[in-house]
Amino acid sequence: MPSIAALAADPSPLTREVVLADTRFVVRALRAGDAVALTAFLAGLSHTSRRFWHRDVEPAAAALDWIDAIGRHDKLRLVAHRAHRTDPLAGVVDLSFSLPAEAELSRYAGYGIALDPERTVRFGPCVADAWQGRGLAAALLPPAWDAVRLLAHDRVVLFGGVRAANHRARRFYLRHGFVEVGGFTNGDGDGIDMMLDLV
Ligand SMILES: CC(C)(COP(=O)(O)OP(=O)(O)OC[C@H]1O[C@@H](n2cnc3c(N)ncnc32)[C@H](O)[C@@H]1OP(=O)(O)O)[C@@H](O)C(=O)NCCC(=O)NCCS
Repeated sequence: MPSIAALAADPSPLTREVVLADTRFVVRALRAGDAVALTAFLAGLSHTSRRFWHRDVEPAAAALDWIDAIGRHDKLRLVAHRAHRTDPLAGVVDLSFSLPAEAELSRYAGYGIALDPERTVRFGPCVADAWQGRGLAAALLPPAWDAVRLLAHDRVVLFGGVRAANHRARRFYLRHGFVEVGGFTNGDGDGIDMMLDLV
């Protein structure tokens, strides 16, 4: 099994091509040269998309942070863009291979579910507004699950849950096999925890 650091040195096992209608996309690990494209992706998100994914991050600072974190911590980020060009990004998937005790681990314990940190990954996708509703997030799932399996994990939970008001995302997750396991309220309002076991 490769480590996150090893995948940063050689991210080729993560690269996939997906086809959506007639458009070919490359899905691959975020890399150091993506700062401008990632900043533009974050800056271009609508208020609604930002509200549901990373909220008020400052685009250029977040892009630099995320690039600086490549291979160093728990995060593995995938990006999608049209084949044969690296800009603009059409989607970003956050995978986190850590489970903070005060967050998902304790929320799930409250639902009677003992998450195993050795096999549980946190997942948070975002598709550029112009591509939403066209099946891109669905197309990103097989490459994301391949990455999860590559790192020998097989249980997926939503990173920070999903906002209860994010009906579109909740429908999307349900359609793709996630189950709702409980609800919580925090400073951001009401959230729902959803989980998927990869088979
Ligand atoms: C939630 C999110 C990731 C879904 O991504 P998406 O690419 O729009 O998802 P899909 O296109 O695969 O599916 C969404 C809708 O498009 C429809 N759709 C799927 N494939 C389609 C296709 N080929 N043609 C037309 N519509 C299609 C689906 O039926 C679905 O319809 P619904 O909204 O009525 O349920 C996206 O809306 C997003 O990034 N939102 C902002 C950030 C966010 O909320 N992230 C989740 C945080 S928990």
